[in-house]
Amino acid sequence: MYPPLPPVYQSVCLYYMLLVPFCLHGNRCEVSLWDSDEPVPREELLKGVQGAHGLLCLLSDKIDAEVLDAAGPNLKVISTLSVGFDHLALDEIKKRGIRVGYTPDVLTDATAELTVALLLATARRLPEGVEEVKNGGWSSWKPLWLCGYGLSGSTVGVIGLGRIGMAIARRLMPFGVKRLLYSGRTAKAHAAEVNGEFVPLDTLVSESDFIVVSCSLTPETQGLCDKAFFSKMKNTAVFVNSSRGAVVNQEDLYEALSSGQIAAAGLDVTTPEPLPTNHPLLTLKNCVVLPHIGSATYSTRGIMAALSAQNLLGGLQGTDMPSELTY
Ligand code: NDP
Ligand code: DGY
Repeated sequence: MYPPLPPVYQSVCLYYMLLVPFCLHGNRCEVSLWDSDEPVPREELLKGVQGAHGLLCLLSDKIDAEVLDAAGPNLKVISTLSVGFDHLALDEIKKRGIRVGYTPDVLTDATAELTVALLLATARRLPEGVEEVKNGGWSSWKPLWLCGYGLSGSTVGVIGLGRIGMAIARRLMPFGVKRLLYSGRTAKAHAAEVNGEFVPLDTLVSESDFIVVSCSLTPETQGLCDKAFFSKMKNTAVFVNSSRGAVVNQEDLYEALSSGQIAAAGLDVTTPEPLPTNHPLLTLKNCVVLPHIGSATYSTRGIMAALSAQNLLGGLQGTDMPSELTY
């Protein structure tokens, strides 16, 4: 099932338990494992990575010059259990000639599904409704109580019509969406499948009833959704972000939500993560915050783990990696 290891003695730093059985097979790998679902403390990472040939990391591990220096010249592959790679200092990694593996495609469906769930929960005020049932606020059926916004006949704007953005669009169209706008650096041929219109960001922001952010976090997208952005949105529009928290200026989002500038927001990602429990966004009924669970289905995480392991092994063996990042 898995490719065999070469008959060399490699040192590998692993942060996922599934890797242990086959990496230890034949005693050809020395494995240093952070055996917990909690993130590895920085000090432990800096210690554990010393002399490693390979590193399997999570998106919560910032892999920067300090980690790379701590690892030293042996390090030839980094495999991240994520499709996002904004936690990797690619310029530093490149300088050292290290290969990088990541997990595109295998989490696209799960993340798109969660994003649609978050959009519907936010637009139709599901968390508020559930809370009212529990706290006795449900007194009777009332004509305007807990009304929200529906997708039928709406205009949806997707910022970043990549793998996940496209999968979200495909899932939303059958709800009766009238227009699908998208923005990004380049127009996409695959947009034709959802009648997607490539428009400038300003057009997308001002004409959409639902805005879904699914772009990668880059210096260009950092803070993209700020005061100016929210001020162009319709007062009735719903904002959803399942990319990275740093794409959004959260102070500006709070202002837009609390002043009624926009109707509601659903966030699967925040800055920081976890969001402190006393954060102002958590006081708002029109803001639904999830704990970064886009890809969190059992099967998806299992497949991500296997792919990360295969990427790591390919990097160690100096052969093809199933999903190597070209950068
Ligand atoms: P892709 O690379 O397929 O898509 C990224 C998209 O971002 C591309 O369409 C790209 O458009 C767009 N983009 C880049 N720069 C800009 C810009 N300046 N303005 C607008 N769009 C831009 O990646 P995936 O779809 O696989 O993943 C996207 C992101 O989703 C990941 O990077 C990760 O951060 C996040 N993610 C979150 C998850 C969660 O649990 N919430 C789960 C998985 C991923 P173009 O090609 O035109 O540049
Ligand atoms: C990713 O892969 O980038 C997600 O944020 C978690 O699956």
